[in-house]
Amino acid sequence: MTKPQIIQLPRYLDTRGNLSVIEEMKEIPFKIERAYWIYDVPGGAHRGGHAYKENQEFIVAMSGSFDVILDDGKDKSTFTLNRSYYGLYVPKGLWREMDNFSTNSLALVLSSTKYDVNDYIRDYPEFKRFKG
Ligand code: TYD
Repeated sequence: MTKPQIIQLPRYLDTRGNLSVIEEMKEIPFKIERAYWIYDVPGGAHRGGHAYKENQEFIVAMSGSFDVILDDGKDKSTFTLNRSYYGLYVPKGLWREMDNFSTNSLALVLSSTKYDVNDYIRDYPEFKRFKG
């Protein structure tokens, strides 16, 4: 998969409370090396503002809502995440930012690589050069 994509997750609806699930190489097209989450985001804050050379991600709004803005160097698309039963697959090599976090939002990010500072491109002009 080379394009960003909203992926619907299985939903097991139940009067006791619903359940959704993510398995590596099944719902998402990579093996999970890492999980991190973003929480207690103050109103108006932006996260991200970088690209990864190799890392792929799957982002789920476990609670609340926020926007993910993806930029391939030519076009930008905004994805609003606001339910825990779907997520956004982010391929490598895209500039990404996150904003519009609602109060008490919780963003879960599953990653295909371990944390590596050298995988980050944090400078937009450098990203444009990288995309060639
Ligand atoms: P940062 O990359 O600035 O977050 P954002 O994706 O919003 O730009 O990460 C914030 C801090 O967390 C930074 O000091 C690095 C650290 N961090 C880790 O140690 N491991 C990780 O997997 C991640 C994503 C961040």
